Amino acid sequence: MIEYDLIRHIPIISEGPVRIMGWVTHIRSSGKLIFIEVRDGTGVIQCVIFKGDVAEQIFDMSKKLTLESSLIIDGIIRRDSRSKMGYEIGVTHIEPIQIPSEEFPISQKEHGIAFLLEKRHLWLRSSRQVAILRVRAAIIKAVRDFLDNQGFILFDTPIFTPAACEGTTTLFETRYFEENVYLTQSGQLYNEAGAMALGRVYSFGPTFRAEKSKTRRHLTEFWMVEPEAAFFDLDMDMDLAQNLVMHIVKTVLENNRAELEVLERDIGQLDKVSLPFPRISYDEAVKLLNENTIPTAWGDDFGGDEETVISRNFSSPVFIHRYPSASKAFYMKADPIRPEVALCCDMIAPEGYGEIIGGGQREDDYDRLLGKLHAHGLNVEPFEWYLDLRKFGTVPHAGFGMGIERTVAWICGLKHVRETIPFPRLMDRIRP
Ligand code: 4AD
Ligand code: MG
Repeated sequence: MIEYDLIRHIPIISEGPVRIMGWVTHIRSSGKLIFIEVRDGTGVIQCVIFKGDVAEQIFDMSKKLTLESSLIIDGIIRRDSRSKMGYEIGVTHIEPIQIPSEEFPISQKEHGIAFLLEKRHLWLRSSRQVAILRVRAAIIKAVRDFLDNQGFILFDTPIFTPAACEGTTTLFETRYFEENVYLTQSGQLYNEAGAMALGRVYSFGPTFRAEKSKTRRHLTEFWMVEPEAAFFDLDMDMDLAQNLVMHIVKTVLENNRAELEVLERDIGQLDKVSLPFPRISYDEAVKLLNENTIPTAWGDDFGGDEETVISRNFSSPVFIHRYPSASKAFYMKADPIRPEVALCCDMIAPEGYGEIIGGGQREDDYDRLLGKLHAHGLNVEPFEWYLDLRKFGTVPHAGFGMGIERTVAWICGLKHVRETIPFPRLMDRIRP
């Protein structure tokens, strides 16, 4: 095994000899000097090869390096005020691992999105993509840390499911031996069983929607974190959601400045996010839309345009609660004071990034839930276990689902969710 240093740690090491292992992202030479930029996933650093500092055959070999050559570099750390990191490496030795003979398909020049998605396995190496995926991982860790610290127990829900959770129009059907089943749209129904066993649970996994929409917010396979808690009402649910999102924003601002800079994210917008997040009712949202020249009737569903207009009025994410029951899923509890609206909420991210969270309080009464299943024209048999939860010690409970990709798009300031996941699955893309 070869010991080596991470580029990210070079400012900490700050002087003396280092060994790094990585790939060439940029190369230029002038006479006795060759400048190569090397990346290793943790950072990028300029390495300077001076003819007088290395053996002759090393200098000659270095002239043949091409983009994405993999190598081991030994050198001495030098201060360099012109570089972003404040340091460069004066190379003393280079050992190539592989020098590609073919030209790397992705260059500095602009490529079309279709081409980049086709070459996603290579596009991942670009500094923007590396920054996005580092932020994605940081967000996921922040989510888990937050929920673990709040007493939520990780609860893994199945992916093969016999029943629909979020309506029957976006189901992926798949053959399961002798029957047809679906890929899960949400772990929620199972989480409700988990909450009755463990009190507070969360699932975190891939979910699937056969979305026939090619929008910048829709994937067919996306990751969702779904907390579910016994004895929670809608207000407690919104408290949990806002505290989770605030924790994410704070953690990324603390730990991922470098990535946000690569992405040229307007950090001022994230700095403005503060608790408590505003909460407006669906009724108030309809009023706001009409005041902002989007004619909206009570009962209308909100799409991306509506969400964007609403979000412009706030610098923090905003909750819209109590949507009309008729437009919402069968499991939502009707507001006892106003049964035409449901005890549900969506969280809309600022700056037009759209809905990142959907959730609410669940119908906890057996008869009303059975009525809702019938009203939605759902076959009761696959939901019998779910109805059981209302037979044996039913309690008020609530939860929500947060889409990881939409959250990453917002935090990173990306126009489209396709760059927020290593290998996006879209209506028209399942490769590579
Ligand atoms: O609002 P949704 O459909 O809610 C549920 O699935 C609930 N069962 C969750 C719960 O209460 N446990 O989805 C939740 C979130 C959305 O707010 C959005 O962030 C994300 O999941 N989402 C998608 N993200 C990317 N592509 C899609 N096609 C998405 N559909 C939903
Ligand atoms: Mg929703």
